[in-house]
Amino acid sequence: MAVIFPRAANLLIPALLVVAPPGGIAAVAGAWYYFSPEFTDVGYAPDQPVPYSHKLHAGELGIDCRYCHNTVEQGHRAAVPPTSTCMNCHKVVKTDSPVLEPIRNAAENPDDPVEWTRVHLLPDYAYFDHSVHMAASVGCVSCHGRVDQMVTVHQEEPLSMGWCLKCHKNPEPNLRPAGAITEMAWTQADHPEFDATARAGEVTPPQHCSGCHR
Ligand code: HEC
Ligand code: HEC
Ligand code: HEC
Ligand code: HEC
Ligand code: HEC
Repeated sequence: MAVIFPRAANLLIPALLVVAPPGGIAAVAGAWYYFSPEFTDVGYAPDQPVPYSHKLHAGELGIDCRYCHNTVEQGHRAAVPPTSTCMNCHKVVKTDSPVLEPIRNAAENPDDPVEWTRVHLLPDYAYFDHSVHMAASVGCVSCHGRVDQMVTVHQEEPLSMGWCLKCHKNPEPNLRPAGAITEMAWTQADHPEFDATARAGEVTPPQHCSGCHR
């Protein structure tokens, strides 16, 4: 797996939160909030073992995100699909494509799965849960960008603390009807009938430290 965060930070941060006196925490947090790099991993797009294209599958073929990332509404993580999901189609479509060989091989040899490289990864000391955001009807596009237009997935947003808090302070522009969470082109401007202010009154994103550092 690609290491994109210094792992030592995973030990340092909880230690700071526990050990530092309250005044110290505020000073540290203040400095970090204003100076932490906002753009470090934006654009990160590792090569994958199979040249799977979201632009083709989610965009042109119109397959819903949840057909493959099927735990996104129930769990912390959005599961990356097993080979069997691909084989639902690829046992009949492009059956002799050389680039699909690792998928066919994994389907026959479950001990030899395709190892996708992680694109988005928070440090261990930050807590994130997809299902809560899905239930609050924040769309995938707010955090991942137009994945349906990406041939290779890249990280679109910084995933920094300042970025999380910007939306937690004012979630209203990012809310939509529950049925539209995977509609990548949906915008509030196109849907004046949607009452975002009323919806925002129903959600309470945490801004206190222990909301995201548990
Ligand atoms: C046909 C299956 C399929 C569909 C449909 C699909 N994905 Fe994926 N997705 C994958 C696979 C396989 C990967 C891992 C390989 C990669 O990163 O390209 C992945 C990776 C991702 C990642 C990066 C995960 C990481 O490592 O950080 C994101 C974000 C993502 N998908 C979002 C979406 C969104 C949003 C949609 C709907 C617009 C969608 N996907 C539709 C199969 C799918
Ligand atoms: C509020 C922001 C947000 C929304 C909305 C969101 N994601 Fe994510 N997603 C993230 C973050 C942050 C990570 C990295 C999580 C981690 O490292 O613990 C992530 C990681 C992923 C991954 C990699 C596996 C994992 O769960 O760590 C996939 C796949 C993914 N998202 C797909 C989706 C899909 C599909 C949707 C919409 C149905 C979606 N996400 C909506 C923020 C979001
Ligand atoms: C709902 C059906 C469906 C599913 C599910 C599906 N695919 Fe596809 N896939 C297609 C179709 C259709 C094409 C385009 C065939 C064409 O170009 O004629 C395609 C093309 C491809 C290609 C390009 C092959 C080539 O030789 O050009 C790759 C790679 C691929 N898919 C990977 C995957 C992976 C990996 C998964 C699982 C994560 C997956 N697909 C799931 C329908 C599907
Ligand atoms: C685009 C808007 C948006 C972004 C970006 C966002 N969130 Fe949230 N988050 C929300 C909303 C809205 C809620 C409120 C859910 C509710 O009240 O039902 C929420 C709730 C939460 C909760 C509370 C979960 C619980 O179990 O109580 C946590 C933790 C959280 N977010 C972590 C994060 C982290 C960490 C990030 C950054 C990596 C992040 N969020 C980015 C909108 C966002
Ligand atoms: C909405 C979620 C959220 C809240 C609330 C939050 N944090 Fe964070 N925090 C994060 C995320 C996500 C990261 C990881 C950022 C990264 O990897 O760039 C982080 C990183 C940090 C770091 C490491 C330095 C850095 O900026 O990368 C410190 C220290 C920290 N938080 C302290 C705090 C303190 C103290 C509070 C309360 C005043 C707080 N956090 C509230 C999400 C949150």
